[in-house]
Amino acid sequence: MTTPAVHANQDIVIRIPDRVEGCEQDDEWFLLESGDSTRRVRIHDYAELYRVPGLYEALVYDTLQCRSHDRIAELLRAVLREGRDPVDDASVLELGAGNGVVGEKLKALGIGRVTGLDLLEEARAAAARDRPEVYDDYVVADLTATNPLAGRVFDGLTVVAALGFGDIPTRAFLRSADLVRPGGWVAMTIKSEFLEPDDETGFGALLRELLNGEWGELEAYQRFQHRIATSGEGIVYAALVWRKLQAFPEELVSLKGTVAPAWARAPTAAIALPSPS
Ligand SMILES: C[S@@+](CC[C@H](N)C(=O)[O-])C[C@H]1O[C@@H](n2cnc3c(N)ncnc32)[C@H](O)[C@@H]1O
Repeated sequence: MTTPAVHANQDIVIRIPDRVEGCEQDDEWFLLESGDSTRRVRIHDYAELYRVPGLYEALVYDTLQCRSHDRIAELLRAVLREGRDPVDDASVLELGAGNGVVGEKLKALGIGRVTGLDLLEEARAAAARDRPEVYDDYVVADLTATNPLAGRVFDGLTVVAALGFGDIPTRAFLRSADLVRPGGWVAMTIKSEFLEPDDETGFGALLRELLNGEWGELEAYQRFQHRIATSGEGIVYAALVWRKLQAFPEELVSLKGTVAPAWARAPTAAIALPSPS
């Protein structure tokens, strides 16, 4: 049994399976019907989703009621309204940008320049196809291995629904936060339980280190329902906007000369790219 069909477009139909209990968020799946064929696709198989126009939006936003993009935009709007930050001529890096849903929200806030960064070429191609007006620049890279943006400086960083799991690990996040100028901001959403101090993603420990008043300071925080799981239960995330107070020292970003702290020792799951279909 499945839930009623949702049409991503006239050729593609999505069905969410009924009664799938105890499925980890990272393993959730749906049925993709196209013509005579029906395939099981993992919700976190982003390359697969981005290849089909409208599929990511129909699945994640319409069917699973994702609200991370709206929530971070509201929180950021409130912080920017305080008036200390440039907006029109601000330059913002969006990490884990996907096909541009969040970038579109940043543009609607009046942000001048948005640079997207994602691991997947499929994400860049989908953003160019579906929202060509959003990104001034879109880089495909894995910041854990290489940093093609080294030397660039941004007024802000956003990372929405992309931290932890097999997605963006602490090291890549820290490297991107390192590109934000002192006084700039970071706006992010993250699964609430990843903020526990001993969570194995390492984000809880890292954010405690970053937001201790020396490197950064929290300006806005809200827990909210990110989306529903395929079981129908709500998945709770936190939205945070924090201010970077000073440049990070090289030892913090690269861990040179230090014993790796817990957040850097956290396992970084390998990212499985789907084989081309
Ligand atoms: C759930 S999607 C979120 C996309 C977008 N932020 C949104 O809210 O619609 C997660 C994105 O993170 C990207 N991602 C995963 N690991 C990454 C990494 N190491 N570096 C950059 N992007 C990564 C994925 O390719 C995917 O596009």
